[in-house]
Amino acid sequence: MTSTIAVNDSSSAEIFPELTRDVIDRMKDAENPRLREILALIVSHVHAIVREAKITHDEWWQAIDFLTRAGKMCSESRQEFILLSDILGISMLVDAIDHVGGPGLSESTVLGPFYAGQQRELAAGESILLREEESDPLEMRGRVTDSQGRPIANALVEVWQTAPNQLYDVQDDDQPDGHLRGSFRTDGAGTFRFRTIMPVSYPIPYDGPAGQLLAAMGRHPFRPAHIHFMISAPGYRTLVTHLFLDGDKYLGSDAVFGVKPSLIIRPRLVGGINTVEYDFGLADEREPTRAQVEELRRQRR
Ligand code: BEZ
Ligand code: FE
Repeated sequence: MTSTIAVNDSSSAEIFPELTRDVIDRMKDAENPRLREILALIVSHVHAIVREAKITHDEWWQAIDFLTRAGKMCSESRQEFILLSDILGISMLVDAIDHVGGPGLSESTVLGPFYAGQQRELAAGESILLREEESDPLEMRGRVTDSQGRPIANALVEVWQTAPNQLYDVQDDDQPDGHLRGSFRTDGAGTFRFRTIMPVSYPIPYDGPAGQLLAAMGRHPFRPAHIHFMISAPGYRTLVTHLFLDGDKYLGSDAVFGVKPSLIIRPRLVGGINTVEYDFGLADEREPTRAQVEELRRQRR
């Protein structure tokens, strides 16, 4: 089938241009200038898409039906719009803009829809399992530091992962609440330590509109095996990230584009137990984000 999309079709810009100007002009009294800026961009880009792709009534109805079904799918335990944002790369793009990076700082990745709030605080070295699992144990250790490698004491290290059945506790009535989740505090040297099991790859929920979209795009729903981390400390930007297992067959095709090479870990056997040592660097909360740096550069030009 040949595409009907005319790339760089200059004639499409001529379809009803005064409508786009009118919609944007009528926002001139909006109280919030940032909201007005974003809405004007949305209107001009969506109008451009409609013109360029020559969207029909039938296609626009399908889009509205798709979004309606996504909304109806949402509940306390299901967030279809996060899934859509993730599979379209939007979550990773927002993170690239609103993240502070640089030497000595850890890379971030998507939060995902399965963070379940702060969990019970465990002592250093304790296990995050609330029931036995038939999986290889994993010992995770590391330090939380600032960008200069100085330890951050009393940082909150929150972790979560799926069970070997590829489900989070919040997706699975058979798992005890809080299974494979936990919070730890770093000690005076910035160190943390806990026991868990080797994570597994799993599909993101694909029984709704996000799954239909993945199938329509010819993509699979799998994420490579990973453990989630959210690390926070007063005076520092909260780091949301994962650690991914080296060798996973989905590392190159994560359904949500979350993999970064610096986040791939290779466990080594210590006393017969798979062990990972990984240090996290947190940015000072006063450091500007990439978007702020670029805005400052633009103002100086
Ligand atoms: C997750 O890793 O938990 C996740 C991230 C994005 C979409 C679905 C799940
Ligand atoms: Fe996950």
